[in-house]
Amino acid sequence: MRMVDLIEKKRDGYELSTEEIQFIIQGYTEGDIPDYQMSAWAMAVLFQGMTPNEQADLTMAMVQSGDEIDLSEIQGIKVDKHSTGGVGDTTTLILGPLVASVGVPVAKMSGRGLGHTGGTIDKLESINGFHTEIEKEQFIDLVNKNKLAIMGQSGNLTPADKKLYALRDVTATVNSIPLIASSIMSKKIAAGADAICLDVKTGAGAFMKTLEGSKELAQAMVRIGQKVGRKTMAVISDMSQPLGNAIGNALEVQEAIDTLKGKGPEDLTELCLTLGSQMVVLAEKADSLHDAREMLEKAIENGSALDQFKIFIASQGGDPTIVDHPENLPQATFQFELESKEAGYIAEMVANEIGTAAMLLGAGRETKESVIDHSVGLVLRKKIGDYVQQGESIATIYSNRENVNSIKKWLHENIKISNEKVEAPPLIYEIFTNE
Ligand code: URA
Ligand code: CA
Repeated sequence: MRMVDLIEKKRDGYELSTEEIQFIIQGYTEGDIPDYQMSAWAMAVLFQGMTPNEQADLTMAMVQSGDEIDLSEIQGIKVDKHSTGGVGDTTTLILGPLVASVGVPVAKMSGRGLGHTGGTIDKLESINGFHTEIEKEQFIDLVNKNKLAIMGQSGNLTPADKKLYALRDVTATVNSIPLIASSIMSKKIAAGADAICLDVKTGAGAFMKTLEGSKELAQAMVRIGQKVGRKTMAVISDMSQPLGNAIGNALEVQEAIDTLKGKGPEDLTELCLTLGSQMVVLAEKADSLHDAREMLEKAIENGSALDQFKIFIASQGGDPTIVDHPENLPQATFQFELESKEAGYIAEMVANEIGTAAMLLGAGRETKESVIDHSVGLVLRKKIGDYVQQGESIATIYSNRENVNSIKKWLHENIKISNEKVEAPPLIYEIFTNE
């Protein structure tokens, strides 16, 4: 086989076979196929697309390019949840203990990464002592014992995806739905998921800005799951404004605790119950989404979800007293209110720009070398559709800097207020399943 023929075949719109896709991915991972040929191929894919079979083949070829985590020693169906990024997305912190408390095993590998706030691991590290540098054996033992553990990414998972994603980043080929879908699915499958629950965000703060694009991506991933024998479900959820109220690391841990106590923000609670119900059904712990939701609501009401969170924190070295004593979480020195300049309805709260404000305060990483300040961030007091009086607080800014004038200016520029009544955007647009 010659790579040049396969580039030509894709360029002309023909379907590549399983063997041809394996040849491309293996050759590229091992360095036999150069970047310039891979770039040409990626561009051909961007223009011609890929059939469902090609996408499934690409996914599995990338899975097989490196290590695969074997979670077979964990009893039960391992469901992984993945969110396609967003601002103030606290769902993983809540869903882990919530679904674990009704018997769903959660063996989560998580990362840090760049962004407005840290990743799930960074958020959890705002808890004194909490660590994720655990060995695989301990990880498996913890999941068998407590139903929940989180481990930092280790091993050589999907090296083909790492290399191809970096190449796409500099060749204007990130924006191809078949390439995005197989990239995400390959990582989940290599990490050992039996079933996958996807939260595909849509709007300004999301990877996919349009509803059309988000739907296409969700459908592509669900279809790949079906073809490679992993039950997969996807929810399209709103990311035009931040999810929940807190954007920051310790602030989001606090928000997760509130939500597990049944006192969290309405949108965050609803999304967690929706995604959680899917996870419970995928794990075959309930027959219907309706029954699953009832189980989860009960786990919040009777405190078992919160107990699960305490056990989880303590089992990975963290201080569980933060659950009842939030003052034991890192605290920012200063608090400032973002006062509204006028009265009216909040019409826009541009998610990515609000996220940038949190990052500028120190809550996230601008570069890989940035150090996160766990204590800082924002808590929104209003969301789209809410009425605000002149001088009333729209958000509280938690900062270790005494001067936040530039942050306030940035926030005012990205929060639009209207005289006319504005409806809150829908939280959930659509749900896709592969059954
Ligand atoms: N996120 C991924 O993991 N892969 C992509 O290709 C795009 C977004
Ligand atoms: Ca949040």
